[in-house]
Amino acid sequence: MTELHSSVSPLLPRVAYLVHSAAPSGAELALLRAAELWADDLNLTVVFGSSGPMVERFSAAGIRTLVEPLPGTAVSMRRQSGARSKVAAVVILLTYAIRLRRVLRRGAYNLIVAGSLKSVIYGRLASFGLGVRFVWSCHDRISREYLGPAAVIYARLLPRIVDGVVANSRSTLDTLRIGSRPALICPPGVALVGGTQGPRPVHAEIRQVAILGRLTPWKGQAEGLRAFAAAEQPQLALHIVGGALFGEDDYAEILRQLATSLGIADRVTFHGHVDGASDLLDEVDLLLHTSVIPEPFGAVVVEGMAHGCVVVATRPGGPAEVIADGRNGFLVSAGDVSAMAAAIRRVVALPESERIKIVSAGYDTAQRFSNEIVASARGRWLAAVARGTAPSGVTDWRQLSGGVAAR
Ligand code: GLC
Repeated sequence: MTELHSSVSPLLPRVAYLVHSAAPSGAELALLRAAELWADDLNLTVVFGSSGPMVERFSAAGIRTLVEPLPGTAVSMRRQSGARSKVAAVVILLTYAIRLRRVLRRGAYNLIVAGSLKSVIYGRLASFGLGVRFVWSCHDRISREYLGPAAVIYARLLPRIVDGVVANSRSTLDTLRIGSRPALICPPGVALVGGTQGPRPVHAEIRQVAILGRLTPWKGQAEGLRAFAAAEQPQLALHIVGGALFGEDDYAEILRQLATSLGIADRVTFHGHVDGASDLLDEVDLLLHTSVIPEPFGAVVVEGMAHGCVVVATRPGGPAEVIADGRNGFLVSAGDVSAMAAAIRRVVALPESERIKIVSAGYDTAQRFSNEIVASARGRWLAAVARGTAPSGVTDWRQLSGGVAAR
């Protein structure tokens, strides 16, 4: 127990959570899982910057939502945009910030949480001088691998203008300069299956392989296809699960063509976006996590473990904080197609008893990321920031949840 547990108030802190996109991507799905459990800690309103499927899903879960639409160009502003359109986007953001300020003032919030890089920028602009505390919940590593050089410089300065930071992994936190501000390392929680029953029985042989996540080049589905082909295991089928959520439809097409040119199209199924891939994961023997640059956390890795899959993931990044290579899963270097192919062959060749050991260890690891534990740690920490009682410096979510170890 820490001091956060004892900060009791008859009134729950009023929290506005800013979410710029309503697409079902990792950070938003994790927020939904968490927010469903925050009723005792926070009086929450999720303020979306666009309408979309996640708005309905939050409302259906009984969570108050508002939509204050961002003008389209700001939502789709991309790294490759030219200087002119960036200036235009800044003007649009400023105008938006003024509009949002009214909404935030009306809500009389104690705390604003920004769930993305974009929303921390417009949210901070909108809330300056309102006397409300502000937290950045960071799900992205702030590095040149994801952002342009200027954006990295600005984004690294952002912790200075907020009252607290939540990072989804140590790897993410290490890209930020937080100084002595309250910071919480808190991964996305995972909905667990199986409970004390342990993992489902492993199939006699490895047959079904999957890659799960939105389709985007850095998630490495192309490298996954290449590794799958190079592993030369004709008995295996590959399921690519995920949609091109942010207009990267070209990449979806490139992947299809790649499967054909690699001669594996008959063994590859493209499922598109699937809401809650639980049933699918229950059938999967081997889950590949193929990001070619460091994954900030990689909730899918833990989900795979929770569902009894053997997981092979790339390092460095979040997955390397979860997987102890050869014990509860396997790690290969990001972008190394032949190492991924070798890992596939290695998993296929494992004796069943070895496979059971790895799956059981992975299952145990996943239990430690239970949404109940993780979400309540995050909710209590946010409430503490809202009340000004959060400790300065870095807190690990396990300190708030009875000291459960990470591996
Ligand atoms: C983002 C990150 C991913 C993480 C998720 C939840 O989608 O890319 O690594 O698992 O947020 O924090």
